[in-house]
Amino acid sequence: MPSRSDAVALLEEWVESEALRKHMYAVEAAVRHYARLEGEDEETWGLAGLLHDLDWERFPDEHPHPGVARLRELDYPEPVVRAILAHAYPDRSDVVPETPLDKVLYACDELCGLVYACCLVRPNGIDDLRPKSVVKKLKDKAFAAGVHRDAVQRGLDLIDLDRAVHVQNVIDGLRTVADVLEVRGEDLAARRGQQQRP
Ligand SMILES: [Fe+2]
Ligand SMILES: [Fe+2]
Repeated sequence: MPSRSDAVALLEEWVESEALRKHMYAVEAAVRHYARLEGEDEETWGLAGLLHDLDWERFPDEHPHPGVARLRELDYPEPVVRAILAHAYPDRSDVVPETPLDKVLYACDELCGLVYACCLVRPNGIDDLRPKSVVKKLKDKAFAAGVHRDAVQRGLDLIDLDRAVHVQNVIDGLRTVADVLEVRGEDLAARRGQQQRP
C-alpha cells in the first residue's frame, strides 16, 4: 500500500491551491479521528480522506474519475478508491456509500468545510469552538453558502450519529491539524495583524 508520504507527494503534484490542500488535510484528519474512534485502520482511512479531491483542480468536470483512475494505476487499496467514488454520490458517481469508510468520508467532507469556515470568523478560531455554534451556522444558509447543506444531512443520515456528536468529532479531528489549517486563535490573530499592517 502506498505510504502517507507517497500520498502527500501525489497531492502536492496535483493540487496547487492552498485552500484545497487544507481542505484535503482537514478531511484526512477528521476521517483518521473516526478510524481511531471505531478501531479501524487509520492509515487506509487516512489515504481516502487525504486524496478524495485529488483531481478537483485539474478535472473539475470529471471529478472524481480521473483521480480514481490514477489511484488505481498506483495500486491504492480498493476500499480507498471505492470511498472516493462514493463521496461523489449521487451527482458525480453511482457508487452508493455503503462501507463504514464510505459513510465517514461522506459525512466529514462538507462538514469540514463548514467547521473550517466557522473557525475563520471567530476570534479564538477552533480553540473554543463548540458544536452549537457550528449547528447555528449550518442553519444559516447565507453563511459559507458553498457548503452543501443537503450533503451534510445525507452524511448525518449515513453515519447515524447525533448531529452534535458528529460535529464534535469533526472538531476534535481538525484540532489535531490546527497548525496546518492555521485555525487557532493565535494563527488568526497573526493573520489579522498582517492585514492591518500598511
Ligand atoms: Fe469531492
Ligand atoms: Fe472534499
